[in-house]
Amino acid sequence: MNTQRDLIEGLLQFVTLVESERKLLAADLHDQTLSDLRELARLARRLFEKPEGAMSQEVRNGLAKLIFGLEAAMDEVRRAMENLSPSALDTLGLVPAIESCLARASQTSERPFLTRFACPLRIDNINLSETEQLLIYRIVQEALNNISKHAGARFVEIVIMREGDSLLFRVTDDGRGMTQSSDLRRARGIENMRYRARLIGAELTWLKATGRRGTVVEVRVPIVTSEA
Ligand SMILES: Nc1ncnc2c1ncn2[C@@H]1O[C@H](COP(=O)(O)OP(=O)(O)O)[C@@H](O)[C@H]1O
Ligand SMILES: [Mg+2]
Repeated sequence: MNTQRDLIEGLLQFVTLVESERKLLAADLHDQTLSDLRELARLARRLFEKPEGAMSQEVRNGLAKLIFGLEAAMDEVRRAMENLSPSALDTLGLVPAIESCLARASQTSERPFLTRFACPLRIDNINLSETEQLLIYRIVQEALNNISKHAGARFVEIVIMREGDSLLFRVTDDGRGMTQSSDLRRARGIENMRYRARLIGAELTWLKATGRRGTVVEVRVPIVTSEA
């Protein structure tokens, strides 16, 4: 009996369960919170469009602020939904989902950064299971979260390519770089990345960007291609 294999299987099932909970949460946010906010915004807009003189300037200014605030809140909820359950992963697949995660990270980062995305290979003839795709996505997502939160980068690049019997996902930033000692000590996010990588037998490495500032995160996933 292969206990190591059984353990990994059990953990994978657990991950699938957590992910389906996330999907439910995203659905609740969509069906309840977002639609409530949309209804309130519609009401506020209707009031705002009443003719001049129907209300004081103060009330009109207040309504304008309210509409603006509601729209910002709706954007926030949409972002949270996308993080909880990336719809692009279901509808478009892993590569476009990663590309749109990169675009989103650049918009939500404290300081927006320029991006480059390159995937010079057809990934559709590479057999990645749904769980593998999801876990790869979550690892790249956390690498991008970390860039938005900590790196202060101006430029972020993601390259996906074939490297021997592996698929390589490389996320490079030109930010402040990681200082090994302090950064890796209470690194919950990084521990989660490692944990997810282990589940799919992927190799995960952090490097200093060569010749300049910044960090490179590499994920290597062993693959089986459908062609001979
Ligand atoms: N791309 C990066 N650039 C600079 N620092 C980073 C980067 N990624 C991670 N770090 C550092 O590593 C630490 C640990 O990351 P993580 O485990 O994800 O924790 P958290 O994001 O919750 O702080 C961060 O607090 C940060 O100091
Ligand atoms: Mg983090």
